[in-house]
Amino acid sequence: MKGKKRDNFEIYLGDCLPTLEKFPSNSIDLIITSPPYADRRIKTYGGTKPEEYVDWFLPIGEQLLRVLKPTGTFILNIKEKAENGERHTYVLELILALRKIGWLWTEEFIWHKKNSYPGKWPNRFRDSWERLLQFNKDRKFNMYQEAVMVPVGDWSKNRLRNLSDTDKIRDNAKNGSGFGKNISNWVARDKVYPNNVLHLATECNNKNHSAAFPEALPEWFINL
Ligand SMILES: C[S@@+](CC[C@H](N)C(=O)[O-])C[C@H]1O[C@@H](n2cnc3c(N)ncnc32)[C@H](O)[C@@H]1O
Repeated sequence: MKGKKRDNFEIYLGDCLPTLEKFPSNSIDLIITSPPYADRRIKTYGGTKPEEYVDWFLPIGEQLLRVLKPTGTFILNIKEKAENGERHTYVLELILALRKIGWLWTEEFIWHKKNSYPGKWPNRFRDSWERLLQFNKDRKFNMYQEAVMVPVGDWSKNRLRNLSDTDKIRDNAKNGSGFGKNISNWVARDKVYPNNVLHLATECNNKNHSAAFPEALPEWFINL
């Protein structure tokens, strides 16, 4: 395994399966990958049929499980396409199969592609989001939530100026959902935690690759 040393990182180029096999167990903090989606870009970098996808991915999933630290996180960017008027189910099947080999499916983030343009399809609308599936080995994993806080937003200026008595206590939703909020919690805060929807534009510049991530996508998870 040859790594190219540049400053404080190394890049390994190769098929991920034999490359991963050379890494020690429990040695990686974060895995972010966007494998070829089934049948999407056969002409540029190949792909696997949806029916064969789980069998293709599982040996890789086993290696990822082995190399990840118990405190680490694995993020899988993937999205199933629609075929014959139906969404394929291979991603759902993959989630179940990964759980069977020991992964915990801890979270699902949505990557909202905020620059996607309108279009017309016979029985659906423009597909503008992808899955970012989060898997962990353990329920207790490293997560630095403060590192991804976002500005509270202009709404707070007017809303928090004059607080009613109800705003100062936990006000339970009238619809009985069990959700509630104490509006006064936001006073004097300029940053708040984000939600699990990432609004990021797709990479539009030519990167000599037909499916390059926007850099902000792995960057967000690296910070977190
Ligand atoms: C959907 S693209 C992901 C690109 C990624 N979002 C980025 O910005 O670099 C899938 C990539 O996986 C690569 N690939 C396919 N099979 C692989 C394998 N067995 N090991 C390593 N990479 C593989 C393909 O060449 C392609 O570049």
